[in-house]
Amino acid sequence: MVIHNPEEWKGNFKNLFQNNHNIHIEIGAGKGKFIYEMALQFPDINFIGIEKYASILVRALGKSEPLPNLRFLYVDAKNLPDIFDHEISCIYLNFSDPWPKNRHARRRLTSPEFLNIYEDLFQGEKHIIQKTDNLILFASSLKNINNAGYTFQEVSLDLASTDLFNIETEYEQKFKSQGIKINYLDAIKK
Ligand SMILES: C[S@@+](CC[C@H](N)C(=O)[O-])C[C@H]1O[C@@H](n2cnc3c(N)ncnc32)[C@H](O)[C@@H]1O
Repeated sequence: MVIHNPEEWKGNFKNLFQNNHNIHIEIGAGKGKFIYEMALQFPDINFIGIEKYASILVRALGKSEPLPNLRFLYVDAKNLPDIFDHEISCIYLNFSDPWPKNRHARRRLTSPEFLNIYEDLFQGEKHIIQKTDNLILFASSLKNINNAGYTFQEVSLDLASTDLFNIETEYEQKFKSQGIKINYLDAIKK
């Protein structure tokens, strides 16, 4: 289930999955609940959960059965250009670390620097879906994703009040139980 030498598959992830299905990635997959349930729900999409810390991922893998359309890899998102070459259809960013201080803004996974990194990962239409409790991160995401030329298909300051399809993450369950509203955006770039 873990891809150990992901650089070796660069440009060839369709061969790893042995089909031509679209590939969706979640960056910062944590314990993997979201990506695992997405893979169960959508067997005709290939999913890759990406997590910086192997220890978190190991916990994720211990509790779930392997699925043919799901893989995990441990890598920092800044190294993704070494791994994917125009072969991703959608990026999920769920409850990414907010880095609320201005001086850390470049570390946010929707900073201009990261949005630039994502450009060459995508094949065809670019698609980013983000959920976060944090309004500082959300506001900067809206601004940066807009400035990068994306069009918003959905924006909500209270995901629970919409009828959008939603698989909850671990962090989302925790925030919801505390009555915290979830911000959501879905953006595409042709
Ligand atoms: C707050 S947790 C959210 C986990 C999960 N997505 C959820 O919603 O329950 C953020 C996760 O992103 C990971 N992460 C942060 N920066 C990352 C990066 N640059 N590359 C890969 N993973 C990263 C962290 O290790 C952590 O597991």
